[in-house]
Amino acid sequence: MPLTIGVPRETFPGEKRVATVPDVVEKLIKLGFAVAVESGAGDGANFADDTYRAAGAEIVADAASLWSKADIVFKVRAPSTAEAGLVKQGGALIGFVWPAQNPELMQQLAARGATVLAIDALPRMLSRAQKMDALTSQAGVAGYRAVIEAANAFGRFFAGQITAAGKVPPAKVFIAGAGVAGLAAIGTAAGLGAIVRANDTRAEVADQVKSLGGEFVKVDYAEEGGGGGGYAKVMSEGFQQAQREMYAKQARDVDIIITTALIPGKPAPKLITAEMVQSMRAGSVIVDMAAEQGGNCELTEPGQAVVKHGVTIVGYTDLPSRLAKQASTLYATNLLRLTEELCKAQKEKGDGTIDVNMDDDAIRGLTVIKDGSITWPAPAPKLPAAAPAAAKPAAPPPAAKGHGHGAGAPMAGSALAMLFGGGAILFWLVGAFAPASFLSHFTVFVLACFVGYMVVWNVTPALHTPLMSVTNAISSIIAIGALVQIAPPLAGVAEGRPSGWILGLAVLALALTAINMFGGFAVTRRMLAMFRK
Ligand code: NAI
Repeated sequence: MPLTIGVPRETFPGEKRVATVPDVVEKLIKLGFAVAVESGAGDGANFADDTYRAAGAEIVADAASLWSKADIVFKVRAPSTAEAGLVKQGGALIGFVWPAQNPELMQQLAARGATVLAIDALPRMLSRAQKMDALTSQAGVAGYRAVIEAANAFGRFFAGQITAAGKVPPAKVFIAGAGVAGLAAIGTAAGLGAIVRANDTRAEVADQVKSLGGEFVKVDYAEEGGGGGGYAKVMSEGFQQAQREMYAKQARDVDIIITTALIPGKPAPKLITAEMVQSMRAGSVIVDMAAEQGGNCELTEPGQAVVKHGVTIVGYTDLPSRLAKQASTLYATNLLRLTEELCKAQKEKGDGTIDVNMDDDAIRGLTVIKDGSITWPAPAPKLPAAAPAAAKPAAPPPAAKGHGHGAGAPMAGSALAMLFGGGAILFWLVGAFAPASFLSHFTVFVLACFVGYMVVWNVTPALHTPLMSVTNAISSIIAIGALVQIAPPLAGVAEGRPSGWILGLAVLALALTAINMFGGFAVTRRMLAMFRK
């Protein structure tokens, strides 16, 4: 019996997003589900009832009928107490839940015998989970919107201009915290032409900041800021002092500050003090994206845009909802990917049922209630890549010795010695019996292999694709061979004139390598441009 996915209208004040969009409705129906949408659910995000109807959804007039019809409810915001009471006995709910912050809601949902998948509890470090990562998709939208809000409140252009009416300097933007939202803000502000600087306690983000067109500003204090899982930790008092000094200097210099700094489970660090705000030029703007968690700026008023000391401080807590169509579309795709995972076993049949597989790390992580029992918090997922120390003891097991099928196991010392011995004998044979002309080519070949290996080994992995394309272009050296064939006739040299077909082949080779050569360099140039700023 196919299940019905229900999408109610969001009831949180001011929330404009919707949990699914018409394009995704079609795909859910292809998976075998029936879809019911509450009338007006998509209005805030510009998706009219008719567009859902055209996609195959049933439009249901009111919330109570929608919830009673839905076997699985897709929501954006955590359900209110009233909504939690509407969950079908034994039904499923998928959306943001924030189990740590909402213990009463968890009890209420458990009492309904429901299965609850909290999209915010997804183990984000599993690369397989990225397609379902709504925290990332919504943070990206929020980072973009923060820059748009800043541009709206700022009285000048972002890009510098020289016009007949005078010279306009570029705006300077400082981004505090370069996580998902911060990086989106850096890209957007740089795209608008501003000078962008950013800081984060996690030093590893410096390259990402640069690749998006920003400059990473370091705090002059040696302390590692990673707290595990890609998140930050609370820094020492010494670091915080040094960071305050750097931020005070930036505040005096820049026009716009966008703060995104968060530490999981802790109040947002206070990075921008009242004195720093006071030191900014009149007309400057601060967008505090951490407003909901207490704010990174001392003067932020959550949910408001206020002007203090001539500086506009934007503390909106609904940034993704302010770009509702985009945020809803991305969120709907995240939920679609999750649904596909949930009906993986039934996919062939497309019978519109789900299987909450608790042996799957990603599904286990976000299942906070299973059939009425609270299963949150989930144990940490197994992460092969994040445990290099654990990978070491994976030495070849003694039992594998002599079985001859240990493919992938590290090579034993004796096998390595045999390989070297065999290689040495081969070289001796080549030296003893091969003709002298072959030997000189062979020496150049071996040296080329060695030099090539050493050069490639030192190129950072991010540049491997442009490296491949440039080596491809260089391999067009074949053009020289073609030229040698063509040259005598062109130069009017009679002897050694090649036959017609050799000449034809040489011209063809030259034409083909020319494409390889010029194309290779052009593509390399374009790829390298992506890393330059
Ligand atoms: P977040 O929203 O918790 O924090 C935002 C940023 O604030 C972080 O970059 C953090 O280092 C920074 N921050 C905290 N305290 C600070 C301070 N005192 N001063 C300056 N900066 C401070 O984190 P978000 O954006 O949700 O994710 C953080 C990171 O997690 C991402 O940058 C990404 O690298 C990683 N991540 C990895 C995923 C994966 O492996 N698949 C998926 C999603 C995120």
